[in-house]
Amino acid sequence: MPEDYFGERVAARYDESTAELFDPVVVGPVVDFLAELAGGGAALELGIGTGRIALPLAARGVRVHGIDLSEAMVARLRAKPGAEGIDVTIGDFATTTVDGTFSVAYVVFNTLGNLTTQAAQAACFRNVAAHLEPGGCFVVEIGVPELQRLPPGDTMRVFDAGETHWGIDEYDIANQGLVSHHFTRVDDGLFELVSMPFRYVWPAELDLMAELAGMKLRERWSGWQREPFTSESGKHVSVWQLDREPPGT
Ligand SMILES: C[S@@+](CC[C@H](N)C(=O)[O-])C[C@H]1O[C@@H](n2cnc3c(N)ncnc32)[C@H](O)[C@@H]1O
Repeated sequence: MPEDYFGERVAARYDESTAELFDPVVVGPVVDFLAELAGGGAALELGIGTGRIALPLAARGVRVHGIDLSEAMVARLRAKPGAEGIDVTIGDFATTTVDGTFSVAYVVFNTLGNLTTQAAQAACFRNVAAHLEPGGCFVVEIGVPELQRLPPGDTMRVFDAGETHWGIDEYDIANQGLVSHHFTRVDDGLFELVSMPFRYVWPAELDLMAELAGMKLRERWSGWQREPFTSESGKHVSVWQLDREPPGT
């Protein structure tokens, strides 16, 4: 099992530290997009966390099943109204299987990058394909690697600098890795550090992983309201569709 970076300490502050992402203005378009793709079928969320997306999606009448590594994050989800209708399996979403098939599977907020090897990310695509109904879709929201912003020879990029939070990404270019360092103010003058490893990945590499798992790119946008994806886009929302039986099944 991979290391759990969302233990009690992170889970206790998760909703508060990402409060702006819980705003209905942010969540609404995500839920609209996913509910439309679910089209009356069920949805599988990889890295369901505290239910930021799963709860409003389930409230729309979509049956949601989640997978997550962190008991602490899922405990927060369980404590919220509406959680009783959501099944959660504790495990690694690259390999964990659940009962049933789904018309849509999704992983948002850069969470695919929590899989820190190419093998694990490719396994995740195969695992999703094995859970999708024919014609089912896999949706990924993830940042475009910001290497253009990193001067040659540098490894650190400050991505947030505020009174209560500093964020610094530390790049390991040879290994396509980055560690995200978050310094968060917890007490007067005191900052706590949480560092989390990611594997950054290019859209084209994800397309190849999808292809190897029997899926084809159907849509790529820079946001949930289908904003165009361009050379300047900082992230993408990509949808791959299962177009044949996954290889090896
Ligand atoms: C950034 S949070 C996102 C939570 C939620 N999807 C949201 O948008 O608020 C990432 C979640 O993915 C889970 N996670 C990370 N790597 C995982 C893995 N390999 N298998 C299962 N869950 C994982 C973490 O425990 C955490 O709950």
